[in-house]
Amino acid sequence: MKLTVVGGGSTYTPELVDGFARLRDTLPVEELVLVDPAADRLDLVGGLARRIFARQGHAGRIVTTSDLDAAVDGADAVLLQLRVGGQAARERDETWPLECGCVGQETTGAGGLAKALRTVPVVLDIADRVRRANPDAWIIDFTNPVGIVTRALLRAGHRAVGLCNVAIGLQRKFAALLGVAPADVHLDHVGLNHLTWETGVRLGGPEAEDVLPRLLAEHGDTVAADLRLPRPLLDRLGVVPSYYLRYYYAHDEVVDELRTKPSRAAEVAEMERQLLQMYGDPALDEKPALLARRGGAYYSEAAVDLAAALLGGSGSPYQVVNTYNRGTLPFLPDDAVIEVPAAVGPKGAAPLPVAAVDPLYAGLMANVTAYEDLALDAALRGGRERVFRALLAHPLVGQYAYAERLTDRLVAHNREHLAWA
Ligand code: G6P
Ligand code: MN
Repeated sequence: MKLTVVGGGSTYTPELVDGFARLRDTLPVEELVLVDPAADRLDLVGGLARRIFARQGHAGRIVTTSDLDAAVDGADAVLLQLRVGGQAARERDETWPLECGCVGQETTGAGGLAKALRTVPVVLDIADRVRRANPDAWIIDFTNPVGIVTRALLRAGHRAVGLCNVAIGLQRKFAALLGVAPADVHLDHVGLNHLTWETGVRLGGPEAEDVLPRLLAEHGDTVAADLRLPRPLLDRLGVVPSYYLRYYYAHDEVVDELRTKPSRAAEVAEMERQLLQMYGDPALDEKPALLARRGGAYYSEAAVDLAAALLGGSGSPYQVVNTYNRGTLPFLPDDAVIEVPAAVGPKGAAPLPVAAVDPLYAGLMANVTAYEDLALDAALRGGRERVFRALLAHPLVGQYAYAERLTDRLVAHNREHLAWA
């Protein structure tokens, strides 16, 4: 089996490689190709990747290259984990929205729109080249904003599934709180990427008893502290929102916080500097502890599980993924991309049925779906007016004066990445 990672020079890659090494019985990777335009990072990351495989006795070959077409040639699956413009572009996304009183975040709100506009054309070009090299290859998209990027891929007819670690992170968290194995925890996870709610927690499978009320009663304080939301709010909702919902439920509070501290991009850039220095040490042959301070915990396990299921191996039968709605949530268009548990196999992902969604959540999902549709339109066709429409539709923007000012800033800060600007 040949697997290619686009953005393989990412400091995250050792997390992925560690997962491939540990879980090789689930996903037998014979050749792992790391492709990245940044040759210097690729050398450092590739060196550590080889040492991780060697230490764990993995016989697979690791190839590093900056030649995308060679990298995807013959690949069974291609993982996308790239960041157009790097942390520098992210830093800007996290900063200029604050000038208008709006959250500055890499995937939510105006910053997320900027990221979508930079990213969609690049990802579509890569996907075309993957398809030309091997029409049967699966594309697993980790590239944010995953909902919009996956929608772009599916609309262009690609064999793609979008993936995020929020669900697997909560599954692990809840399993630890309940004292059970992660595989026994099935989440009723519903929403859009980075806009999800856990409405049930079942032990044993999708039909098993819902222990969410017990989990909240016994561990509500821990869950609320993790989310940085008040415990009484959780009790009133009776569901567990993802931490990305804090940007909505406590928007102004978040804006005040963000204004007084360095951006997450700046923090990450500093961690990346340290990580790359460590990766250059020939004695290092495992992923360093510092990597755990990044947001991507467990993403390797989610990737292994998904790739194994798609490629006909032994991945879990039900996984939370991003794919077409197709009637699963009747209040959203069929071609919306939703994030829900799905049956996954060689034919792709088919969402499991979802119970009726409370209007409290359905309304926000519908609103953000409409925004995503307009965001994709702006990413594909460009133009200031389309950017303005997407921002006006976003529930965290909404007012024309904000949308106007944010549009100006978005365009000014991203000109080099926008063909039309
Ligand atoms: C979580 C999200 C990812 C996001 C990451 C950011 O893992 O699910 O989509 O990319 O956090 O983490 P970072 O360490 O870069 O802030
Ligand atoms: Mn994510």
